[in-house]
Order: sequence, then structure tokens, then C-alpha cells
Amino acid sequence: MTKIVVTGRIPEVGLDALRGVEIDGEPANVWVWDHDYPAPTEVRDAQLADAIGAVTLVTDQVDGAFLYAAPNLRIVANAAVGFNNIDVDACTARKVRVTNTPGVLTDATADLAMGLVLMVTRRLGEGERLIRSGTAWKWGMSMMLGTGLQGRRLGIAGMGSIGTALADRAKAFGMEIAYHNRNEVDAEVADRLKAIRLSKEELLATSDIVSLNCPYTPDTHHLIDSKALESMRSDAFLVNTARGAIVDEAALVEALATGQIAGAALDVFEREPEVHPGLLDRDNVVLIPHLGSATVETRNAMASLAAKNVAAFLTTGEPITPVN
Ligand code: DGY
Repeated sequence: MTKIVVTGRIPEVGLDALRGVEIDGEPANVWVWDHDYPAPTEVRDAQLADAIGAVTLVTDQVDGAFLYAAPNLRIVANAAVGFNNIDVDACTARKVRVTNTPGVLTDATADLAMGLVLMVTRRLGEGERLIRSGTAWKWGMSMMLGTGLQGRRLGIAGMGSIGTALADRAKAFGMEIAYHNRNEVDAEVADRLKAIRLSKEELLATSDIVSLNCPYTPDTHHLIDSKALESMRSDAFLVNTARGAIVDEAALVEALATGQIAGAALDVFEREPEVHPGLLDRDNVVLIPHLGSATVETRNAMASLAAKNVAAFLTTGEPITPVN
């Protein structure tokens, strides 16, 4: 019987699609670890032993040990657009197909990134904390002033679909768009956004807000290190909705402590779910627990696409959104 392992809780719509997969007239046997925390390794491995497919989450490490436990595995469908949690080379060497979920979480993540831009520049978290603390306050002309967005430059590192969707939102707020990317964006997009392409150094030195929207790879590990932070303006903000380890968190703490940059808004962390203690008590830092794709609609769409990838691969030999 075709066995598919789902390593963590996913929306029912994804499970229904998996349960509907029929191979040689027989429905697939779907095993789910129906919790928001990972299964003990021995439980997961016992299930992987006879699995042909696996639906995985960003919190799973699909590495040599995972693959060793799953000798019959033919597809890993990651329910995420990022797939830095998967050793794709090892999968390819074992002839295991890998898929991700591009497209379906673009708007949700761009919305959240724009929310973080607003939160950190307008001190929204700080204001909320003030009221909740019970501290007496009164409206005043100079009370808790933030930074306006109109005419400010948003520097986007990684101008893929999420970076572009964020740029569209920022444009509506009157921002100027600059980006750093391996390739030029399409002429139509550049024209619509009046976006300029800059080197990393120019982007960091001239942006009022730097937003990280690139994938995490060996090349982007600590893209924002102490040198990069030093080159940012002291009134600039950093926003990260991509992956935590793109930023050297210790260097960021230092840059915030010494006033090298004005603030940061983070949805992702270098040692997630751990957060550097130096970030916790800073009022100019916004901290959100990896909520980029966390809407009901988006999580349903991610689970559906992951399931469709498994179904398409097992029935036609070709997944919908392959990585390898
Ligand atoms: C992704 O899809 O890569 C997100 O980080 C998880 O929602």
C-alpha cells in the first residue's frame, strides 16, 4: 500500500487531498503526526520506514538521517516556499524528488512585511506595550514620534515574487523602490515600480528601510553581518521576513545597542524559536513568531499544493512545483 507520512499538523484540505490519492485502484495510507510540535525521532522514523511520500514542514530537517530512515521514499513535498531545511543534493542523489509551495504565500508574506515596516517606523509595538503596561500617558505633539514612509527608500534584498509584492504595497505608501538581486526584474515590473537596481553596498548605504526577501542559501548566510550593518544609515531600519540566519543576530544586537541603525522588525530568527536575549528588551525592535504565511487561506493553499505535488508525482511521475 502507498504510504504517505505527514510530519506535522496541516490543514484538513491537504489531508483530504492526500487521502484521495489512488495508486493502482488503492487509496493511499496517510499517516499524520497531528501536532504543532515535532514527532519524537523514533516515532517519525518508524513511519518513514515504508513511506513513499512525505509532506514536511519548515521545522523538519530532511537530512541524511531522515533519508536513511526512509529507504523507499520518492518524494518530499515541503509545505513552504523556502526549502533550506532540505538537503536537496542528498535527495537528488537518492532520486527523491523535492517540491515546495511557491506563489500561494506571496501576498500573505508581503502583507506581513509591510505590516512590520509600519510597526517599526511608527513604533506600534512600543505604543501597544505602553498602554498595556498601565503607564499613564497623554497625547502630546512630541509624544512617540515615528518616521513617515512617503518619499523614503525601501531597499529590497531579493526581488522575487515576495519582494515584488512588497514593493507594490510600499509603492502605494509613496515609497521609492530600490532592490538588490542577481537579475534585473522584468522591464514591466521595473517600470511599474520605478524600481532601481543597486549593488548590495549601495542598497545598504542609501535605504531608509532594508527588507530581506531572499532565500537562505550558503551565499546569503549572514548577508547582514557587522560590516553590512555598519554601512547602513543610523536612521535606517531592517526588516526580515525571509530566514533568520540571513542576519548575524549577535551583530544586529550590537548595531542596535550602539545606535548604528534605528530599529529592526523580525519575523524570523537565527536559532528559531530561540530569540537572542539582546533583542527582547529593546523598544526599537519588533518581534513576531514566524507568521509570514500564517493566514487560514494561505495555510490551506500551502497544504493543498503540497498534497497536489505528492498526488501529481505519484500518479503522473511529475510534480507541479519541483525543486529538483
Ligand atoms: C515559507 O514558506 O518558507 C515560510 O517561511 C513558512 O511559512
